[in-house]
Amino acid sequence: MAKKDLDWGNIGFQYRVTDKRYVSEWKGGEWDEGRLTDDPNVVLNESAGILQYCQQVFEGLKAYTWEDGSIVCFRPDMNAERIFNSAKRMEMPPFPKERFVRAVEEVVRANADWVPPFGSGATLYLRPYEFATGVVIGVKPADEYQFRIFATPVGPYYKGGATPISIIVSDFDRAAPHGTGAVKAGLNYAMSLHSSVLAHTAGYAENLYLDAASRSYVEETGGSNAIFVDGEGTLVIPKSDSILPSITRRSIVYVAEHYLHLKVDERPVLFDEVKGFKECGLCGTAAVLSPVGRIVNHDEVINFPSGMEKAGKVMGELYNTLTGIQSGKIEAPEGWIHVIR
Ligand code: PLP
Ligand code: COI
Repeated sequence: MAKKDLDWGNIGFQYRVTDKRYVSEWKGGEWDEGRLTDDPNVVLNESAGILQYCQQVFEGLKAYTWEDGSIVCFRPDMNAERIFNSAKRMEMPPFPKERFVRAVEEVVRANADWVPPFGSGATLYLRPYEFATGVVIGVKPADEYQFRIFATPVGPYYKGGATPISIIVSDFDRAAPHGTGAVKAGLNYAMSLHSSVLAHTAGYAENLYLDAASRSYVEETGGSNAIFVDGEGTLVIPKSDSILPSITRRSIVYVAEHYLHLKVDERPVLFDEVKGFKECGLCGTAAVLSPVGRIVNHDEVINFPSGMEKAGKVMGELYNTLTGIQSGKIEAPEGWIHVIR
């Protein structure tokens, strides 16, 4: 086995076809035994539930090569749990959690040459997803589904990696109260594409969404949770029922409390308060922890004191500790590291 010949430090965040992917099909009321396949294409009936009514849920997690050559995944049990809940919310048969973790192992093992080398700054991104293959025409859940996982090597999600980014407050909403914001369903991303194109065209890396009901509280961005540091050095975490329960964010909260001994305050955060904060970051599997230097909301420009050159002190420490744990340089809490054997 030899690692693929890629310029690992410059691979960007993009899809590459790798060797094997996993597929299991739900038919006749049960999941089949599942298998690895070479074929990256999916053939669907024109009236499949995914094509007509967007019945789909997905996940994102990463595999890392450690210095000793071993390959590990970060908290795959959490993704198993979340996609289980997402599927239930979308009236899809949830994929069994133990089978999810075993399928992740199979895909990583079968694509071991694609797991970027230790120290390259890149990782193997895994995309588990489930979608309706069964035919529907009236609006209802389909009766057939596929669960799949593919893998693609990736670099940083936001250009510039650890360099602070500028983001803009969207005039559109991401998630309705009591809607699907807290589940990882493709439909949440479809409706964010328009504001995302507007933001990118205007030179911003991301959109920050406010709550749809009052447009006064901070929700999250299109692909990551937002976190802040206030004037007292407390880590402030926006709380809302319509944001995705980020595994990275929950890990960061643990790191802040148990490794860095910071005070953490999880509560609804008014956008009005943000101008008083010292630091901001966006966290997620793809984003890791990207520092934010500036937030623009029409005429209002918030420049965080941490600036546009490098991450602020707290975001920097959180980033170093989290990535230290993920790369095996810092001892992980029990159960966070899943070694692929
Ligand atoms: N919020 C949204 C909208 C996301 O798409 C993601 C990415 O998964 C996150 C937050 C971060 O979640 P996690 O840390 O579990 O990857
Ligand atoms: C992830 O971080 O895994 C996501 O799904 C976010 C997506 C915008 C790439």
